[in-house]
Amino acid sequence: MMKWAVVLCAMLALSECFISVPLIKGKSAREALEEKGLWEKYRKMYPFNPAAKFTQSYAIGYESMTNDADLAYYGVISIGTPPQSFEVIFDTGSSNLWVPSIYCSSAACNNHVRFNPQQSSTFQATNQPLSIQYGTGSMTGVLGYDTVSVGSIKVPHQIFGLSQTEAPFMAHMKADGILGLAYPQLAVSNAQPIFDNMVQQGLVQDYFSVYLSSNSQSGSEVIFGGFNPNHYTGTLVWIPLSSETYWQITMDSVTINGQVVACNGGCQAIVDTGTSLIIGPYSDISNMNSWVGASVSNGDATVNCNNIGSMPAVTFNINGNAFTLPASAYVRQSYYYGCRTGFSPSSSSLWILGDVFIRQYYTVFNRSNNSIGLAKAV
Ligand SMILES: *[C@@H]1O[C@H](CO)[C@@H](O)[C@H](O)[C@H]1NC(C)=O
Ligand SMILES: *[C@@H]1O[C@H](CO)[C@@H](O)[C@H](O)[C@H]1NC(C)=O
Repeated sequence: MMKWAVVLCAMLALSECFISVPLIKGKSAREALEEKGLWEKYRKMYPFNPAAKFTQSYAIGYESMTNDADLAYYGVISIGTPPQSFEVIFDTGSSNLWVPSIYCSSAACNNHVRFNPQQSSTFQATNQPLSIQYGTGSMTGVLGYDTVSVGSIKVPHQIFGLSQTEAPFMAHMKADGILGLAYPQLAVSNAQPIFDNMVQQGLVQDYFSVYLSSNSQSGSEVIFGGFNPNHYTGTLVWIPLSSETYWQITMDSVTINGQVVACNGGCQAIVDTGTSLIIGPYSDISNMNSWVGASVSNGDATVNCNNIGSMPAVTFNINGNAFTLPASAYVRQSYYYGCRTGFSPSSSSLWILGDVFIRQYYTVFNRSNNSIGLAKAV
């Protein structure tokens, strides 16, 4: 299959060549911890602070996604010759690629696959350090170059981070590392993001798309240089970016039954595959949660699972278009904790439209004209 795709690409015009990478929907860190009865303890030890990802004072490149206990989608890449495989989160909210390495002895490195540069004939070392701050800890490492394979694309001479220390929370994540898909301006240590390298080397066109399956473990995918019309209905609606660092857009308002309940007068939002929920400012999120009938305690907005059928849809109005999420899409069910909304507050004014939104709307991230295409996912 892989060989065939490469041949196909070589024979066709670049515009016809695309690479699909399947994403697996696995157990989130929260589910793993809840099963072990450790969630409450962890929540207190490592409180999730989604705003840390976007706080201006952190400058660029900082992110908190590994603290996001609900992240569930990851894909497989390989690095080196012969290839060493890793599960990574494809994160449109950051720009660096990094994986655990043999130089790391943190708990998270002991229970994940570690890259061994000595076993790759194509590895090139640097002594440039890499350090990414999370809300509650940091990842540190060193940068190196090697061939990175994503689906059937081989990207030669890709810069990436080899971790030396990782925050304790990573030990509970399924994925080994992170593959950032935001703009180069956001990359820590000026490391060229892998998508920029792919485009620069003429391997794919300069857009990619993401489909996150709601219910099944398989079927989710990232397509580099293409999109998959089988995964959406209608036509893509294009939204121009308001800033080219994150995939940031202007949202007009959030409404329920035509009433503005949040983002009154407009707000900024980023479309982020590396955040699981929909995040907004405290007062807005609290208003939304009370409109849908959720009661907030202990940081969770809980609802009665039996009420999902009668709860209102929530509409995100963007660039004159309505993107509506029914309760079945914004309520998440946990075996241990019942039903909770996917609306979570942060101290930032920036909204994050995470996986709860992307599962409903197929998303094309177009670097060619700095816009995002959205269509109802199927
Ligand atoms: C970007 O490209 C799409 C598809 O060609 C087009 O419909 C849209 O208007 C463009 N958006 C901007 C902001 O140029
Ligand atoms: C991305 O934008 C470019 C420029 O407008 C356009 O030619 C291309 O078709 C767009 N990509 C998709 C998937 O529509």
